[in-house]
Amino acid sequence: MYKLQAFYYFLLLSLSCASSLAFSWSQNKRLFNQAKNYEGSSDLVNLEYHMGPVLASPVNLYIIWYGRWKPTQQAIIRDFIHSISSSSVPYPSVADWWKTARLYTDQTDSNITGNIFLSGEFYDSRYSHGGYLSRLDMQKIIKNAVTSPSRALPLNPHNGLYLILTSYDVQVQDFCRAVCGFHYFTFPTIVGVTVPYAWVGYSGSQCPGMCAYPFAWPNYSGKPPPRTKGDSNMMHAPNGDVGADGMISVIAHELAEVSSNPLVNAWYAGDDPTAPNEIADLCLGVYGSGAGGGYVGKVYKDYWGNGFNMNGVNKRKFLVQWIWNPLKRKCYGPNAMD
Ligand SMILES: *[C@@H]1O[C@H](CO)[C@@H](O)[C@H](O)[C@H]1NC(C)=O
Ligand SMILES: *[C@@H]1O[C@H](CO)[C@@H](O)[C@H](O)[C@H]1NC(C)=O
Repeated sequence: MYKLQAFYYFLLLSLSCASSLAFSWSQNKRLFNQAKNYEGSSDLVNLEYHMGPVLASPVNLYIIWYGRWKPTQQAIIRDFIHSISSSSVPYPSVADWWKTARLYTDQTDSNITGNIFLSGEFYDSRYSHGGYLSRLDMQKIIKNAVTSPSRALPLNPHNGLYLILTSYDVQVQDFCRAVCGFHYFTFPTIVGVTVPYAWVGYSGSQCPGMCAYPFAWPNYSGKPPPRTKGDSNMMHAPNGDVGADGMISVIAHELAEVSSNPLVNAWYAGDDPTAPNEIADLCLGVYGSGAGGGYVGKVYKDYWGNGFNMNGVNKRKFLVQWIWNPLKRKCYGPNAMD
């Protein structure tokens, strides 16, 4: 679950140190050794395995586009999904990033799969459950998509994974207040089977400063965005859409967590399964080496100055947060300097 509480913590650290530099994402070494967000190796993190399964079989991912989506936004998100299993993208790629997720196994010694296929899409463009959604409504939206009279998605409890994406105008319980996305599993009483799913909202208009950070500035910080020479120092989105580019990292976060903890009984830290710290929660805000204290870490700039840290299909660039590497016992990604 992409929790804003953890994000506030990440920002708080930044606002309490060198404020003028805190959000500078250029290669600022002065911040490298401050307030690490577990980027350095840590024995304090007690990530534990709780005997449940991981997603080890090739995953059939089904997207449910809820509400009104622009084709350009859909293309960015589809390309990201296609990038996870693509072997023909130059290093550091999204598939290289996913190799860290693949290090997680379950009690059958099966690793998380390297194959996530976009196997179907459903357009819920008539807002089947309205413009205000509760968490439980997500299951009803899945039920609707798999029973729709036209172009229904398959109901696939064996290796299906449903990803609900809500558009800019849809309000979701806790969205922008407590979370940017979450994952869970369906109940047989609602959907007929138990199958994992995730939800991510488009934050571009509702709360970009929280859920599309670092492409947007968190207004509630009480400080104006950093400016150098009259120019905003915000990082620009690599695919030109702050909301969709911001969603990519949240989608990545949820995919890593649903794969390592699909039934909420496999990999997490902490004693409370209702508020677990999962493999991406541990690395919130970390996109490159040296991250911490509000600094996103060492990432790349493209020709136009947009920030990214990995390559995808169709020559796309993405900025994706790192995830916890269980062997190195630290947050890790393909653009690591060490
Ligand atoms: C599976 O996980 C184990 C334990 O983390 C790791 O040593 C191995 O390299 C992983 N296999 C793949 C294909 O990633
Ligand atoms: C944040 O501030 C910017 C610039 O002042 C403004 O355009 C935007 O609407 C604000 N966002 C929110 C959610 O208040």
